[in-house]
Amino acid sequence: MTYLWLKAGHIIFVIFWMAGLFMLPRFFVYHQEDGPPGSEADAKWIERERRLVKIILTPAMIVVWLLGLFLAYYTAAYTEGWFHAKLLLVLALTGYQGWMTGYAKKLARGERTLEGRNLRLLNEVPGLAAVLIVILAIARPF
Ligand code: HEM
Repeated sequence: MTYLWLKAGHIIFVIFWMAGLFMLPRFFVYHQEDGPPGSEADAKWIERERRLVKIILTPAMIVVWLLGLFLAYYTAAYTEGWFHAKLLLVLALTGYQGWMTGYAKKLARGERTLEGRNLRLLNEVPGLAAVLIVILAIARPF
């Protein structure tokens, strides 16, 4: 029973985490198109990005990890191939988030090292990762 509640919690926080991961690079695109460093628009985007990271991304990621690791322990998923593949992808997604929050800090310092086109491409990464992770977790092909 508790296990099912924790699994529901896992998926609820996965949704919050993914929503944040979809939003952050999109914010970067709008941010860079909206005004030069130091402008009023720039300051507003810096604040929006800071809040998105602080209020959604970081807490959701921590809860997904905690509940996911508990589920892995409880179901002994750590002995199964699909879980190892999922863990690799989730680690990569966590690294991606670290990199994206690093870019938010760069923007806050007025550094814009990525072009809009590249940011749009990077925006596809969480979607692709989500497709693979959900297939691994539900169809468990190996
Ligand atoms: C952050 C590290 C994560 C860990 C350690 C983890 C671990 C787990 C484990 C062990 C289960 C199986 C529970 C069971 O057998 O009942 C599970 C279920 C699930 N996970 Fe994760 N997970 C993580 C992140 C994610 C992410 C990022 C997604 C989606 C993008 C995701 C989607 C799901 C789904 C849809 C299920 C339900 C599968 C089912 O049992 O029917 N997980 N997770």
